[in-house]
Parts: sequence; structure tokens; C-alpha cells
Amino acid sequence: MSNHDSGLIKINGKYKGKDILSLDQFTSKDILALYKKTQQMKRIALGAKPAKNLAGKIVAIIFYEPSSRTFNSFAAAVKQLGGQTLEVHDPKTFSSVSKGETLEDTIRVLEAYTDAIVIRHNEQGSVQKAADAAEFVPVFNAGDGIGEHPTQALLDLMTIYDKHKRLNNLTGIMAGDLLNGRTIHSLIRGLSLFKNNIIYLLSPKELKLSKDDFNLFSQRNIKLIEVSNINDLPKEADFLYWTRVQKERFKDLSVYEKVKNKFVLDKKLIDNMGWKNAIFMHPLPRVGEIALDVDEDKRAVYLRSQIRNGMYVRMALLDLIIGRK
Ligand code: CP
Repeated sequence: MSNHDSGLIKINGKYKGKDILSLDQFTSKDILALYKKTQQMKRIALGAKPAKNLAGKIVAIIFYEPSSRTFNSFAAAVKQLGGQTLEVHDPKTFSSVSKGETLEDTIRVLEAYTDAIVIRHNEQGSVQKAADAAEFVPVFNAGDGIGEHPTQALLDLMTIYDKHKRLNNLTGIMAGDLLNGRTIHSLIRGLSLFKNNIIYLLSPKELKLSKDDFNLFSQRNIKLIEVSNINDLPKEADFLYWTRVQKERFKDLSVYEKVKNKFVLDKKLIDNMGWKNAIFMHPLPRVGEIALDVDEDKRAVYLRSQIRNGMYVRMALLDLIIGRK
């Protein structure tokens, strides 16, 4: 929503009417309050009784990039709460964006019909632009290029919280495309809100966090350890967070071909390393960086709780921000 003071508006205990653009808006307390609400949402979703929290509300979901999870879990979340959706897939083909309409104009139009806008865009910073353009309704960042993916990080943190009952004193491993991974950029921000977290960052040298991001995050309350060899990873960890090397972000596809399969999580690696108390996470989609033989391992949550938590967390955010109470 249009914010005449420059910068992100912090949640500070009050979600009502606010945009969700970045994990930088949150405190640890805001996140834990969200998870309390999420438990209530989970009961609604599992209870199969119609809820009315969003009765009479319409949420626009407009995605300039494809999605299986974020789009559909937002749509399901609205419907679970008795609201309706206005869904725009691929606006560059199926809306007046194809005729040259600006992002700002598209947003002004959608907000005339709806109570909130969920947007994914291929350019970093575009969702902030959309939020600045919207005068009356909150905007949810469903992923902006290589920038952030805050609702994904909130569901990821909840998945870790469910397993370990804490979000501090954690040792995590993040692997893959750390340079372009918006889920990584939001998750590190989220983990730095809690105490004593250590993250090992495993990537090919071409896909390390950018210097700016590394310096920014290093000034926060989190210890980051960059490694380029699997043997330098710890054998005890609380979570592994594997990510896809994102072909669509490469200008030179020969570089993509060189790095794409550098770090594959498979049963053999897991058996060698142990990682007894860890959960195995991935924001998905995966394209080979987690072998299928990992799926049956009980520690693999990427096609289990991590997916379901996406809908519950998005229900909680929608209820807190535009719910009827
Ligand atoms: N995790 C995630 O953002 O997946 P989708 O691209 O399918 O929404």
C-alpha cells in the first residue's frame, strides 16, 4: 500500500492492512505470533468446515513468472477462509500488459476490484513498485526476481520450528544457487532475527551470495560460513536447505551447464554424512539436485510438511492482514 514515508513498514505486532514485502519488516515476536495464528488456520483447513474469515473479500493473484506452489497455495488459502480470488497467470500474454500497460496501471486497476494483491514478478524491486502504486489495498510479495520471497521464508521457518521447537541455536546448511535464490535471501534474514544461528553456505564459486548480500547479512545476528566442498560441511545439522540452480537467471548458458549438478543431495551422501537430527528442505521445484532416492527418507520434508505449511502460513497472513475480525 502506498507509503509516503520511504522504506519498509515494520509489522511491530500489528499486521492489519500491511504489505508483506520483506523479512526485514519482522521481529522474532512477529514471527512467533504468526505461528500461533497458523495453528488456528491449520485446524480450519483440516476441519473441512467452511470458514468466513475472508467472506466477501476478493484477492487478486497476478504472477509474471510461473509457479506451482505459491500461486496455488495462496489461492487455496483464500478459499479455505471463505474468500474469492481473481487470478491472472502470465499477464504479459493474458492481460493488457501485452499491449504495453505499465505495472503501476495494472495494480491500480486490480485494486479497484479486490481487497489485496499477491504478485510475483521477474524483476527485483518490482513488487515494492507495485506496493507503492497501490493506494488502498495491501500487496504480498510472492517473489521478486532474485530479491526476496518472504512468504516462502515464513513457511520455511515454520517447518524448522515444527521440528525443533525453536528458531535459535540452529545449525543449518544452505546449498545451490545462493546468488539468485530469493528464498535464501529471505530465509537468512529471518534466521538472523533469532539468536546463535550458524549457516553453512555451500555453492559453486559462481553462485555464492553476492558480496553486498554477504556483507549485509554478516553484520546481523547470524554466523555465515561459506564452503565450496561437501567435505567441509558439519555432520551435525538441524536442517539442510537445498536449492535449484536457476537456469532462467543465467545470461551465459554454458556457465549454467558447468555448475548445475555440482552439489546433488542423494542417499549415499546422506549415509556418509549422518545428519541424524536434520530435516531435508527444498523450496521446489527441484531439477535433479535432490535425488529421488531421498524422498522416502522420513527426514525429507520438501514434499510433505514444507508444502502444507505454505498454505497454513498464507492463511494466517491473509487473516491477520485482511481478515474480518
Ligand atoms: N517455492 C516456490 O516459490 O515454488 P513455486 O515457484 O512453484 O511457487
